[in-house]
Amino acid sequence: MVTDHPVVRVEDVHKVFRAWGITHRGAADVHAVKGVGFELREGDSLAIVGESGSGKTTTARMLAGLERPTAGTVWVAGRQRGIARRISLAERRRNARELQMVLQDPYTSLDRHQSIVSAIDEVLALHFSLGRAARARRIAELLEQVGLDRREGAARPHQLSGGQRQRAAIARALALEPRVLVLDEPVAALDVSIQAQVLNLLADIREATAITYVFISHDLAVVRHVTDQILVMKSGTVVERGRTAEVLNAPRDPYTQLLIDAVPGPNWHTANGAAKPRSQKAVLTGATLARHFTSTVDRLAPMECPAARKDNAGD
Ligand SMILES: Nc1ncnc2c1ncn2[C@@H]1O[C@H](COP(=O)(O)OP(=O)(O)OP(=O)(O)O)[C@@H](O)[C@H]1O
Ligand SMILES: [Mg+2]
Repeated sequence: MVTDHPVVRVEDVHKVFRAWGITHRGAADVHAVKGVGFELREGDSLAIVGESGSGKTTTARMLAGLERPTAGTVWVAGRQRGIARRISLAERRRNARELQMVLQDPYTSLDRHQSIVSAIDEVLALHFSLGRAARARRIAELLEQVGLDRREGAARPHQLSGGQRQRAAIARALALEPRVLVLDEPVAALDVSIQAQVLNLLADIREATAITYVFISHDLAVVRHVTDQILVMKSGTVVERGRTAEVLNAPRDPYTQLLIDAVPGPNWHTANGAAKPRSQKAVLTGATLARHFTSTVDRLAPMECPAARKDNAGD
């Protein structure tokens, strides 16, 4: 049942990292997140975009309780996260049931020595009181949901393709029936057709459940496909927010416009094999930001210089 209470509430969170060895005098503070706030209701899908180092992953890690905010509060499913330095096993498990994270590299969440089936079985045995037969039925359901067959289910992570591995990681995350799924660049390492498969899977899951997504990506085309709302981050702060389509079609902040300008669109025309820049500014910002848009840039590797056309940017 979809309720009107926020399932995620982030209030004015800050994260300051103490980084040693940056200056000769010793420690220097890195203010990675500076007063970020947002609320999500069941079924919402939020994109967090911004250049490399803008604080997206740090925000996600605070949501997941993997980092403690230096200031501000994070609530997930009505409970505050990250207050205690140490939390009990029971609380850790409850947190895991509420929010799961899927990362760019699925190896991080999958054990190399375990088949996909036994990785999911372990999660089910730990979190639910289900008998062996019921667990087997649930595993079959989850594998079907993410489009993995029996052979793939029996395989170990290294025996799968990148896309299959990412789908296995998603199945494992879904096994916990989390209310919130945080995806940090989940398709950045995949080629375009596999990206599409994983994105369609995420869209299907969202349609079938009331799951809430937080989707971190450099790829604005991907973000447009899977999210309804967007936060644009720059240097730890939110510079723009709103409905994804509205923000990407008519950005109000110049920084959002720069991000859009840096993304090549499908109808880009090239003359003599080189992309035609819309303006000198677009060339400069494109060159500066291009390295952050790995997946898009990879797709367009033959082009020498990303330039922008406003009419098709972000598509
Ligand atoms: N554990 C840490 N210690 C010190 N500084 C950190 C730590 N984690 C992140 N930072 C710094 O905080 C800032 C934000 O990092 P974060 O990983 O959140 O960026 P991001 O937006 O996810 O970037 P990317 O798109 O490259 O993944 C960066 O300047 C980073 O160097
Ligand atoms: Mg990151």
